[in-house]
Amino acid sequence: MKVAVVGATGMVGQVMLKVLEERDLPITELIPVASERSVGNKVKFKDKEFTIVSMNDAIAVKPEIAIFSAGGGTSLEFAPKFAEVGTVVIDNSSAWRMDPTKKLVVPEINANVLTKEDKIIANPNCSTIQLVMVLHPLNQKYDIKRVIISTYQSVTGTGKAAVDQLNAEIKGESPEKVYPYQIFKNALPHCDVFADDDYTKEEIKLMKEPKKIMGDDTFNLTATAVRVPVQGGHSESVNIEFENEFDLEEVRKILSETPGVVLQDNVKNNEYPMPLYSEGKDEVFVGRIRRDLSQPKTLNLWIVADNLRKGAATNAVQIAEYLVANNLV
Ligand SMILES: NC(=O)c1ccc[n+]([C@@H]2O[C@H](COP(=O)([O-])OP(=O)(O)OC[C@H]3O[C@@H](n4cnc5c(N)ncnc54)[C@H](OP(=O)(O)O)[C@@H]3O)[C@@H](O)[C@H]2O)c1
Repeated sequence: MKVAVVGATGMVGQVMLKVLEERDLPITELIPVASERSVGNKVKFKDKEFTIVSMNDAIAVKPEIAIFSAGGGTSLEFAPKFAEVGTVVIDNSSAWRMDPTKKLVVPEINANVLTKEDKIIANPNCSTIQLVMVLHPLNQKYDIKRVIISTYQSVTGTGKAAVDQLNAEIKGESPEKVYPYQIFKNALPHCDVFADDDYTKEEIKLMKEPKKIMGDDTFNLTATAVRVPVQGGHSESVNIEFENEFDLEEVRKILSETPGVVLQDNVKNNEYPMPLYSEGKDEVFVGRIRRDLSQPKTLNLWIVADNLRKGAATNAVQIAEYLVANNLV
């Protein structure tokens, strides 16, 4: 199978190559793609060097699958061109996620919606993926009424240039800024751009995408997304109000038995999820599970995952694996 990795030089693209190396997609030809700036440069895959090609050269090869991590504008322009030659595009940007004609997929939750007709498939936002991995099994059991999310998001979520800004600031330099302010020793209540209603686009994604993935628009979400000087993954403080009463031990059991979720919840031993330890891992970690004492049928918990792995590359590769396993590509 010919697989194009679009955005192969980027933060997500580099992890994509690593995840593809580790897993079993039957790749016969890897086609790394990046901007015109990088064409001719090399990337490493399975100990071999591959030359980066342009979008048009990649389209000419007619890959079976193209995994895009190159920004929304690039996806809007080029995903349809790949689709036209028969390629299935799995897109990491926000370009197609809320398009009613496109599927938004977390394989553990809704891979069953995919069909042979889906030529552009959207990978959800990184902070959405780790959130729904925990919300979905609890919604099935207790019926969610409302969710309040506050995120503590890694700079790797903004891309390579943001990691460069943080690392330069740590060294005491004054680099060109990706964020409007210094990020080292700071917390910015500002992820992505502000919309007209004063929410950021990241917050809007967190409020809309879970309903589409979970196929349930009967519950409400509100979100505050904060960028912190962390690199290993995104963290989320989540308050969940249910329609039905729950049992704390049962909640722990449900989450410990959910594929892809790891329970880390033993405060007596200071055991809880942290981004430093989620880095490089594919699982979503959940802990600090406790009753909200301010109102009934309400839970607080803490979710952490590596935004570049399950939040982006791993989820996209899992979609590709599902397509192959079910003869949809
Ligand atoms: N970081 C995350 O946690 C995360 C999670 C989920 C989704 N995403 C999404 O994934 C995408 C990439 O994010 P990132 O963090 O990896 O950004 P990044 O580190 O800035 O990398 C961007 C990549 O896109 C390529 N690119 C830029 N313009 C292009 C063009 N016109 N044609 C072809 N390739 C082009 C770049 O190539 P050059 O090196 O040649 O410039 C680079 O490979 C974004 O859409 C982002 O929203 C990111």
